[in-house]
Amino acid sequence: MVALIVNGKPQNIAMDPETPLLWAVRESLGLNGTKFGCGAGLCGACTVHIDGAPVRSCSTPLSAAEGLNVTTIEGVAGPDGTLHAVQEAWIAHQVPQCGYCQSGQIMSAVALLKETPDPTDADIDTAMSGNICRCGMYTRIRAAIKTAAKA
Ligand code: FES
Ligand code: FES
Repeated sequence: MVALIVNGKPQNIAMDPETPLLWAVRESLGLNGTKFGCGAGLCGACTVHIDGAPVRSCSTPLSAAEGLNVTTIEGVAGPDGTLHAVQEAWIAHQVPQCGYCQSGQIMSAVALLKETPDPTDADIDTAMSGNICRCGMYTRIRAAIKTAAKA
């Protein structure tokens, strides 16, 4: 049993502590917004936050989040459903195409803006370099991050 807080709610997850955090949030908690892409820490589709920092949940054991705050894409909007500025910007710029990479992209963008509220192109490229988009939406991702930064 591993105790942690997910999207503000205390949870006790009855899984092997070495289970990837990705499967804990998807299978134990039913939070399916976090995606499995490569399973090897290379694509960013599975990005969640632990205490605000982006991590690859496919290659992070559940035990690494014990006692900590995990945020998934389902927890990014406010409790009343108000979208995060990054989500609003993603809609405005029509970033998602197939959508598969997008929850991970948004989680990385939210973490970037928390640390660097007015990022340069280089800051964006560095922070987002681990998030692969097979639809090639990198130009829109960068534009949406700049819009969210202004908001
Ligand atoms: S699925 Fe985790 S980095 Fe690709
Ligand atoms: S929107 Fe299709 S992989 Fe990024």
